[in-house]
Amino acid sequence: MKEKKKEDRRKGCGGRVLYSAAAAILSRLERREGSLKSLVYGSGFPNVRLLYALVSETLRYGPVLEKLLAASGLLQAGKKAAKKRLPPALARVLVYELLFGKGLRGGGGGGSGALVLKHRARLQAELARLKVQKKVSRNQDLLERGSPPSLALLPRYARVNALKTRVEHVVDYFKRQGYAYQGKGEASALSAGKKFLLDSLFPDLLVFPPQTDLHEDQLYQAGHLILQDKASCLPAFLLDPPPGSHVIDACAAPGNKTSHLAAIMKNKGRLFAFDLDAKRLATLSTMLVRAGATCYELEHRDFLTTDPSDPKYSRVRYILLDPSCSGSGMVGRQPFEEEGGDDETQEALSTRLKALAGFQRKMLLHALKFPALHRLVYSTCSFHQEENEEVVRDVLEQQGKDFHLVEALPSWSPRGLDVFPAAKCCLRASPKETLTNGFFVAVLERRHMGTNEESVPPLLPENMPECFAYSEFVSLASVKTYGERSVACDGITYASVADTKLK
Ligand SMILES: C[S@@+](CC[C@H](N)C(=O)[O-])C[C@H]1O[C@@H](n2cnc3c(N)ncnc32)[C@H](O)[C@@H]1O
Repeated sequence: MKEKKKEDRRKGCGGRVLYSAAAAILSRLERREGSLKSLVYGSGFPNVRLLYALVSETLRYGPVLEKLLAASGLLQAGKKAAKKRLPPALARVLVYELLFGKGLRGGGGGGSGALVLKHRARLQAELARLKVQKKVSRNQDLLERGSPPSLALLPRYARVNALKTRVEHVVDYFKRQGYAYQGKGEASALSAGKKFLLDSLFPDLLVFPPQTDLHEDQLYQAGHLILQDKASCLPAFLLDPPPGSHVIDACAAPGNKTSHLAAIMKNKGRLFAFDLDAKRLATLSTMLVRAGATCYELEHRDFLTTDPSDPKYSRVRYILLDPSCSGSGMVGRQPFEEEGGDDETQEALSTRLKALAGFQRKMLLHALKFPALHRLVYSTCSFHQEENEEVVRDVLEQQGKDFHLVEALPSWSPRGLDVFPAAKCCLRASPKETLTNGFFVAVLERRHMGTNEESVPPLLPENMPECFAYSEFVSLASVKTYGERSVACDGITYASVADTKLK
């Protein structure tokens, strides 16, 4: 018991401290002192994830909590007993936790919690009355239409990092930890409890019930597991760069997709990872080291300033473009987090989307200028068609006939919105339809490779010696003398430029 209390304190989840921290953030949000994210991360609270989840869920249930507080008379009861005055923000947090969350920890942690617990029967009765009134049976059905979906309802997805381990080992590990393995299946088939399954589409993706917390798990800590939403696994999976290829990740940080690319490339080839933001690039670097990726080169710069004709990028055949976007598809993100705040008008939103789409179009047009580019994946975590189908449509129109949309994953539903005829080639994802964050993915390919195709040497075989993975290769046709390190691929022998004299 003592140990449990110690552990709770370490994680910062001792009931009272957590509830007061959450209430303080709610009050500061009401005074418009910052966004939810900035206030949580700047709070100094040791377990920011826990705090973030509690505040955002309390916000989501805000209108319901207001009704319950008014009907139960809890705030007035607090006022009557002078010493037990219950601040409204704290009342909302405590009632949320009691009725919709994990129950009040440690008896609610003091006077305010005790007061709420004293009113438990009344609150439960009011909740039942509200459900009858609304003709619903589940708590979540009390939420108003259009209220942001809850992170608590999405499965926990964990990608097995093939650079460090194998799916079978991870499955065995979780079985030993007492999780029931349900084989390959759909996330929708997974009920609550200590269980997991292997995703039916991605061969390296494990699916756990919502709210399974794996952040403290040793496999996650050691980089064997990457906690990554299923929709966010789509871009690297669809780009599918073979080992040995040259790839650009144009907006890479914090790097889940970069590490996924490195795993698909088996750490062979060159992965140029750009990001504009130094702090986010540092996070990317930490995450790539933890994931055991080695085939990358970080570039702290604006992708728009790269020169597509730079010989360094002359063999880049694959580009992943996941640019900054409104983030409107991110589950758990509250209106407070979007730049315009919760009272952003339609006009302000449309101005912001226009600016974002302008930037996204520029990035996409620039990416298509790389001379050896064969396939590009464009993705956003936005629901807005202005940032998605419309960007792709405009860029395809503008760049001529060189690139076209390919039909990505025909079995995947939902598809791109009907903004232009080929938009159905694109993929969409949403909490409701795919049990993931909201997401958009488009796959573009060059129509005719022509001379570019011929100027790019064929890909190197997968069993290429490690030393070759980091060096340039040339075919023997262009070589005068070469050292012992050579490799055969499709009947052509390649030599490493490291020990080669070119003609
Ligand atoms: C949506 S996030 C990328 C997420 C990343 N692909 C992942 O999976 O973790 C967009 C990133 O683009 C970066 N960015 C924005 N403008 C950029 C530019 N012009 N050049 C390079 N990076 C840029 C931002 O700093 C941000 O880290």
